[in-house]
Amino acid sequence: MSISCNPIDFNVVVLISGSGSNLQALIDAQAAGAPYRIAAVISNRADAYGLQRAAQAGIATQVLDHREYPDRESYDQALIAAIDQFQPSLLALAGFMRILSAGFVRHYSGRLLNIHPSLLPKYKGLHTHQRALDAGDQEHGCSVHFVSEELDGGPVILQAKVAVLPEDSADALATRVLKREHFIYPLCLRWFAEDRLRLNQGQVELEGAALAAPVVFAIPQEPG
Ligand code: GAR
Repeated sequence: MSISCNPIDFNVVVLISGSGSNLQALIDAQAAGAPYRIAAVISNRADAYGLQRAAQAGIATQVLDHREYPDRESYDQALIAAIDQFQPSLLALAGFMRILSAGFVRHYSGRLLNIHPSLLPKYKGLHTHQRALDAGDQEHGCSVHFVSEELDGGPVILQAKVAVLPEDSADALATRVLKREHFIYPLCLRWFAEDRLRLNQGQVELEGAALAAPVVFAIPQEPG
């Protein structure tokens, strides 16, 4: 399939709440030639380390503190106004730890991606690594999905798996999963920017064909 966009035209806005290691992976991929431009990084927390990563990369940053708004709807409306200044072709959630209102999700329908630290549909929500350990799972991982109105429930595009080791703690597992996140999220952004990936009436299409199941990305298991 042809690449239909000029990289400079394909603006991405990234929402974060914390460390921003996934944001860093997206920044690094852009620096290495990925066909998108991160136009802005917006955080609901002023102390999110990812804001420093963005500033270091010369990317515009903005803080919109949810505690300054009376309710979710008014916060999400302000967030939409902040995001839309940058006219994004894609909005990427990268550790943005807020539940989004239905109106917000609808506004970005088909151009809103999230990365989640579990093999969805398993372990929506929080504490995914501990829950995988508690369940005795043999494998765990991460998922990139289109965002729908159901929390962590939108159609899954791409997953990466890790083996759960007998001695694993939640932190050790999280560290290994995060490394896989840093592979699969830039890849999905690239696919979307190259017009190879889209959401069509709730169905993920990759290379023009409906995905029957998420793609599982095989990443060589490195030590640690
Ligand atoms: C990542 O593990 C991401 O998958 C998770 O938060 C972490 C953010 O790390 N997101 C969620 O749990 C969203 N439901 P980062 O700030 O270093 O990218």
